Amino acid sequence: MLVAEAGDLSPGQALDVGCGEGADALWLARRGWRVTAVDVSEVALRRAAAAAADASGRVAWARDDLTTTPPPVRAFDLVSIHYFPLRREPGHSALYGLLDAVTPGGTLLFATHSLSDLAAHRSVDSDPADYYQPDDIAQLLGLEPERVTFHD
Ligand SMILES: C[S@@+](CC[C@H](N)C(=O)[O-])C[C@H]1O[C@@H](n2cnc3c(N)ncnc32)[C@H](O)[C@@H]1O
Repeated sequence: MLVAEAGDLSPGQALDVGCGEGADALWLARRGWRVTAVDVSEVALRRAAAAAADASGRVAWARDDLTTTPPPVRAFDLVSIHYFPLRREPGHSALYGLLDAVTPGGTLLFATHSLSDLAAHRSVDSDPADYYQPDDIAQLLGLEPERVTFHD
C-alpha cells in the first residue's frame, strides 16, 4: 500500500508511526524522504537502525509511546500509519495527535487489517473492533467517502 499511495508523492518530511523493523522508513528514505521513524520497541529500533546503513542521515529513529507522546504538530508531509494498534478511546486524543502531525495539504496514510480478516483473532482480552479502522478516521475528519481508498 505504501508503494501504491506514496510512490508518486514528492519527497519531504515523513513520519513512520510504529515503524517496527523499519522497512517502510527505509523505503521512503531511499526515495529521498527525510523520515522520523517512531516505535515503542527498543529491539525493533535497534534492528531497524542496523539495516539502515545506506540511509543513515535520512532516518531519525526515535523511541516513544505515541499514545502518550504525540509527534510534533503540522510537521510531516506524509504520516504513514501501517498496522499500528491504536485502541479507540473517548476524546480520541492519541489519534488526534497523529492526525495533527500532518502538514496542511499533506498526506495521511492509514492501513489496518480488515475486521473480517481479524475476526478469528478475537479473544477475551482483545477485540479487533476495539481498535481504530479507516472508517473512524474518515468520519472524524469529515471526509467524503471518495477520499478514502480501500485496498485488498
Ligand atoms: C504490527 S507492527 C507494524 C510495524 C510496521 N509499521 C509494519 O507495517 O510492518 C506494530 C508496531 O507498532 C509498535 N507500537 C505499538 N504500540 C506503540 C505505541 N504506543 N507507540 C509506538 N509504537 C508502538 C510496535 O512495537 C510494533 O513495532
